[in-house]
Amino acid sequence: MRHIIKPDDFSVQELEDLFDLATDMERNPDKYAHVCEGKKLATCFYEPSTRTRLSTETAMLNLGGKIMGFSDAGSSSASKGESVSDTIRVISCFADIAAIRHPKEGAATVAAMHSTIPVINCGDGGHQHPTQTLTDLHTIRSLKGRLSNFTIGLCGDLKFGRTVHSLINALARYEGIRFIFISPPELRVPDYITEKLEEKGIRYEEYISLDDVMPRLDILYMTRVQRERFFNEEDYVRLKDFYILDTERMKKAKNDMFVLHPLPRVNEISVEVDRDPRAAYFRQVQYGMYVRMALIMTLLELHVD
Ligand code: NCD
Repeated sequence: MRHIIKPDDFSVQELEDLFDLATDMERNPDKYAHVCEGKKLATCFYEPSTRTRLSTETAMLNLGGKIMGFSDAGSSSASKGESVSDTIRVISCFADIAAIRHPKEGAATVAAMHSTIPVINCGDGGHQHPTQTLTDLHTIRSLKGRLSNFTIGLCGDLKFGRTVHSLINALARYEGIRFIFISPPELRVPDYITEKLEEKGIRYEEYISLDDVMPRLDILYMTRVQRERFFNEEDYVRLKDFYILDTERMKKAKNDMFVLHPLPRVNEISVEVDRDPRAAYFRQVQYGMYVRMALIMTLLELHVD
């Protein structure tokens, strides 16, 4: 039985197969409309979510399966003190696959250890968010036609942003990726991640100014400042509007650069940028649904002829 806790639980070749499957699902939805008939997905969300939960649920519904779950820890037995390991044991009796989001780093790993059904990590604290990373990789591959040889700028809260941590990890496995990290000094990429890049001999640069690097980027991955992971409100208020991507800044970028964002956006991309054909963050949401369909089918080891 297989789980996805971090993106590198899948090899580069397995990811290629997954993205090909997602593309085929987008082109031929009818072919896959019944593949999960009789199967149930449980979504166990102990933290707020719009996209990830609804996208995972829609993915299961598109495959002909059924969904159940909770979207708020307060409405589950967690509020009575039940542990994640007990909850997942119980869910394993009801569902065929579980998607879990939890504020604590490592919660999905604990769930996987005690589960008898595949577990999808939909975000564990500031640690990893593999299905967002699959979404990001599938989006880049679809827009650019490749996952190698480009310069990616990651901008905003690089310290607490789990989507950033997962994406760096995942892209580090491809040839010719150059990372440019743009953040206020307080929100730099954690050392444990840059140390890994250094060990592997992967190039990265760190900047405070977005303007300075804009012309060099092939992809710009914007992120929101993660208010819920700050220790005090004062720091959040000081840093929340550090970067605002607007049409003026977009003029400095290449014509074939794309802007991605895991969403939700707060102020870091002004709405006027949405009209720019290089703004890909809503298309990214669409790609995310197909990649989750492919993931569910793969974890359940289902096939179509
Ligand atoms: C992200 C998350 O939850 O980490 N959202 C998402 O799943 N698309 C990013 C964020 O909350 O900023």
